[in-house]
Amino acid sequence: MTTKAIEWLDNELRILDQSKLPHQQIFIDLSDYQDVVSAIKTMQIRGAPAIGIAAAYGIALGAQKIEAENRTQFFDEFGKILEAFATSRPTAANLFRAIDRMKKAATGNNVSEIKRTLIDEAKQIHQDEIEATTKLSQLGAELIKDGFTILTHCNAGPLATAGYGTALGVIKAAKEQGKKISVIATETRPLLQGARLTAWELKQADIPVTLITDSMAGYFMSQGKINCVIVGADRIAANGDIANKIGTYTLAVLAKENSIPFYVACPTSTIDPSLSSGAEIPIEERSPEEVTHIQGIPIAPEGINAANPAFDITPHKYITAIITEKGIIREPFAFASQ
Ligand code: MRU
Repeated sequence: MTTKAIEWLDNELRILDQSKLPHQQIFIDLSDYQDVVSAIKTMQIRGAPAIGIAAAYGIALGAQKIEAENRTQFFDEFGKILEAFATSRPTAANLFRAIDRMKKAATGNNVSEIKRTLIDEAKQIHQDEIEATTKLSQLGAELIKDGFTILTHCNAGPLATAGYGTALGVIKAAKEQGKKISVIATETRPLLQGARLTAWELKQADIPVTLITDSMAGYFMSQGKINCVIVGADRIAANGDIANKIGTYTLAVLAKENSIPFYVACPTSTIDPSLSSGAEIPIEERSPEEVTHIQGIPIAPEGINAANPAFDITPHKYITAIITEKGIIREPFAFASQ
């Protein structure tokens, strides 16, 4: 897993185009902040921590190009850049955490100093996420026993984090501890992050993986084939309710019914204590075409209605533990502002 999802190349941002994986590995160099906004919207870069990191670099990139004669002019333009990122995708808390950090970091005696500070802050946000995902993976690996088969959903590996990974980070760390483990990965319709990205990352890491369609998960759980479920998260409310890829809620209910532990792994930058419960988390609605088509090929009658919520809410009562870099947290969940 050495392919870098995001790389800062002094005034350019290099991203691996995740929409083309696994069959094409295409890197794109972005020098305009609007192209970074567009890469987030079209999910060339995706996964909550990676979206936050890309936005931070994108904001720094945009700031470098502001031609301002004074601070007022600079901050007028800077505000527009922040707004463009804030409206790129609504659910991942990491995006809004990164925007907030960049806004607070915009200080200095003059415009050139502010611009330099913004690049430093974006690099720091990236570094913090690398450290957090590495630490939480090591902590979470203690929950995985030798011989476990783990079910995961969507993609929560290095591609989604531009770091070590969250759910897949825990799995990788368990393997590095010498445990013999295997993974069942759901394909994750509509955009197939499980089939395209998780299966690819696990293959690269030499971790045995079996791909299933989303609807097969209950069968494998009922047959006693799954020892635990681990997923990532896009936002966690103060009471421990989580938003994650659509289908996560179904898996959590099935896991409880089958007495299987259900773990959520994420850096604390995914936690949004300003929201009291999952009901307040904004859920992104994406184009119906992602449901009526698979990779551009129509699979349904022309003109049919389709719905496409990209995430769902899993109530905290279904969650056995939340694995963060600060520790493994169990019920009762009560996240407070730090
Ligand atoms: O729509 P996506 O692909 O950005 O959704 C990603 C997920 O739901 C991941 O599970 C989540 O971001 C956790 S990533 C560490």
